Amino acid sequence: MTRHAKLELNGTETELPVVVGTEAEVGIDISKLRARTGAVTLDPSFANTAACESAITYIDGERGILRYRGYDIADLANHASFPEVCHLLIHGRLPTRPEREEFRHRLTRHTLVHEDMKLFFEGLPHSAHPMVILSSMIAALSAYYPEDDTPEEIDLNIIRLLAKAKTLAAFAYKKSKGQPFIYPKNDLSYLQNFLRMLFAIPAEPYVVNPVVQSALNKLLILHADHEQNCSTTTVRTVGSSGANLYASISAGVSALWGRLHGGANQAVIEMLETIRDDGANYRKYIELTKSKDSDFRLMGFGHRVYKNFDPRALILKKAADEVLESLGVEDPLLDIAKQLEEVALADDYFIERKLYPNVDFYSGVIYRAMGIPTDMFTVMFALGRLPGWIAHWLEQRNTPGARIVRPRQIYVGETARPWVELDDR
Ligand SMILES: CC(C)(COP(=O)(O)OP(=O)(O)OC[C@H]1O[C@@H](n2cnc3c(N)ncnc32)[C@H](O)[C@@H]1OP(=O)(O)O)[C@@H](O)C(=O)NCCC(=O)NCCS
Repeated sequence: MTRHAKLELNGTETELPVVVGTEAEVGIDISKLRARTGAVTLDPSFANTAACESAITYIDGERGILRYRGYDIADLANHASFPEVCHLLIHGRLPTRPEREEFRHRLTRHTLVHEDMKLFFEGLPHSAHPMVILSSMIAALSAYYPEDDTPEEIDLNIIRLLAKAKTLAAFAYKKSKGQPFIYPKNDLSYLQNFLRMLFAIPAEPYVVNPVVQSALNKLLILHADHEQNCSTTTVRTVGSSGANLYASISAGVSALWGRLHGGANQAVIEMLETIRDDGANYRKYIELTKSKDSDFRLMGFGHRVYKNFDPRALILKKAADEVLESLGVEDPLLDIAKQLEEVALADDYFIERKLYPNVDFYSGVIYRAMGIPTDMFTVMFALGRLPGWIAHWLEQRNTPGARIVRPRQIYVGETARPWVELDDR
């Protein structure tokens, strides 16, 4: 039996269908609300709005649950490889052994970028943030691989994007260092290739450190999707206009860049460095956060959805200890991060607002230990998030009857007024 919610407006009752998801999440379908009542709903920043039905990722923020296509994030982080997770998110299931080999093979064969694209890099200043390079270069891919609407061509473009984005990301890093670009090698795996393109120099042999490879695998998996966050919503919105894959994902990269989203991992390290340089006085910064006169926020803390704990942060806290120990790295920033967390979690301000460390709180410490520079952190996040964005772009595109995203507004500006001649203003 279809359930309904009742809404009374101006004395008239309207029944609205209730939609229940596979995890018993309840939504009130208001898609016909305006047609029936003339009213719209107002939900700035969409904290109460489900923009779509999606079968990709499930989050229960109260219970700290995150699953991709039904698989628990901890299982995936501990057992899967990042390309397997890409396959899972995009195709909806874990690959069989032959499918996995075929997928890996294709990801390897499409790693090179068109030689002409190197000219773009020459035109950019050395100081360019790698996120602007990544976003521009991903958009530029559409000039080399224009979209043709067949499923085969779209599938090929997805492989191209997954394969080439890491080459572009590594080139962006090399550009900032003034070092020569390192080309991919087909006998290396997805992650080995990326690490080699990032860290090798022509003058010396480069051997991938398995600890670094395994940490990177975990980090990319933990970032691979997070349902309707700001950047994914951007990708779906841009895609809803019919924009091609590269253009839509490039928009997602730009959305991710902000400090309240993917840019938080860079902001966390900068905050920890500030605290370290201020005599590691972390209590002062906790107080600053709470002060009404300051707009300082504890970066890497808080989440729109997680109100108990972020399961990714738990995994990364443990991983940070393991990675730093295996690499023999001692980083005072990790100690400051742990002290901040301990004090914050016992503080009423954070308890009342349900603020917990999020995925970005410990990821930066691990990236630092791996030798990845701070301004590359958000690029690493973007590489991890690619399969999620792609899966959502595809899901949006393949939803029967999907319409262009076009919210309404409640206009609060001037009402109609007469034109005023220039001399009379
Ligand atoms: C993630 C984030 C953007 C979510 O924002 P949101 O759901 O819109 O939550 P709000 O901004 O409404 O915050 C609710 C309250 O908690 C406080 N708060 C939220 N995050 C905080 C933080 N990191 N440090 C201190 N206070 C914080 C807000 O000041 C607000 O307090 P108030 O009710 O007294 O005004 C926000 O928690 C944040 O800015 N975190 C830091 C950036 C970050 O780590 N981003 C990565 C997310 S994965």
